Amino acid sequence: MTDVFTVLAQDHQEVKAMLAELEQGPTRAAGANQDQLALRKKMTEQLIIEESRHEALEEMYFWLAVREHLHSGDALADEATEQEQAAKQVLADLDKLGSGDADFEKLLAKFIVDAREHIEFEESRVWPLLRAALSAETSADLGTKIAEGKKTAPTRPHPHTPPSPGALKTAGPVAAAADKARDAVTGRGD
Ligand SMILES: [Fe+2]
Ligand SMILES: [Fe+2]
Repeated sequence: MTDVFTVLAQDHQEVKAMLAELEQGPTRAAGANQDQLALRKKMTEQLIIEESRHEALEEMYFWLAVREHLHSGDALADEATEQEQAAKQVLADLDKLGSGDADFEKLLAKFIVDAREHIEFEESRVWPLLRAALSAETSADLGTKIAEGKKTAPTRPHPHTPPSPGALKTAGPVAAAADKARDAVTGRGD
């Protein structure tokens, strides 16, 4: 049984590694060739998939637990989901652009800064409090739900779906099925 923090930390490590790799370029401005630009777009698509799944599952399970178990839970969850909704909009915009587009690097650079701040917020402001508040059993149960949920979580940002667990539980599978259909057509996904 893996506890929820281990499951989420793995995701964060993966995302941070992707951000670091993307940060290294090469970008169009730095003279990237067509193959390098195509690879950059593909890496960004992979980042969008990972990030969309991760945030959707946090909304479905993690923030709900934060609200339930912490006195300051509502304030923390509100602040975090606001960050997540803003990030989703950036990713949705980024998803529409090619890596040779003028705005691509601007949006990506913004996302990189915001994503690192968001991860830091979760890990340093929220996790210590929740870690102290959850029983080992509840933590393991949450970890399992999130790990299992990856199979059916949305792979696109969906910034217009409200970040409530209920909305995601109903809209989630429908959105995820539509995302999967698109992944199949565009050759994305795992
Ligand atoms: Fe998050
Ligand atoms: Fe997270």
